[in-house]
Amino acid sequence: METTLIILKPDAVQRGLMGRIISRFEDKGLQIVGAKFMQISNELASTHYSDHQGKPFYDGLVGFMTSSPVLVLAIRGKGAIAVCRKMMGATFGSNAEAGTIRGDFGVSNSFNLIHGSDSPEAAEKELGLFFNDGEVLCFDRPGDAWVYDMSGGTAE
Ligand code: RTP
Ligand code: MG
Repeated sequence: METTLIILKPDAVQRGLMGRIISRFEDKGLQIVGAKFMQISNELASTHYSDHQGKPFYDGLVGFMTSSPVLVLAIRGKGAIAVCRKMMGATFGSNAEAGTIRGDFGVSNSFNLIHGSDSPEAAEKELGLFFNDGEVLCFDRPGDAWVYDMSGGTAE
């Protein structure tokens, strides 16, 4: 099982898309294990996007991410990091595939609705940035017996 860090960006919150985006992850069978509605500080946005420091879009990106509240989620499931990235679609809304979150809900390249960790290392770092100890929970859902085939002892 993997846990990934998802951020519903300011445009998703302002456009009233939070519920529909969360539903997609729940419909997939993924488990929401952490949630935090917050306004990201300049310092946190800079740390989160430190890999992009110096790039032409960096200042705009930090400005956008701090402009209005976001909903931060921890999402768990088998292969959750790659599964969520696939569900998000390509970075730019203008060429994100239909059927993906960015492809279905937006057309902008900068206001692209959602962030998702892109590797296990990034997920670990980002979960630690946005959640304190004890804020990402571990709990059983009876329905998972029908989300995963557990007959071999592991989730398939
Ligand atoms: P994210 O980190 O937000 O999940 O997005 P991503 O992995 O799909 O894309 P990434 O390359 O990490 O870029 C981070 C965010 O910066 C903005 N961006 N603008 N104008 C540009 O060329 C450009 N490139 C990236 C996007 O908002 C992107 O989500
Ligand atoms: Mg990225």
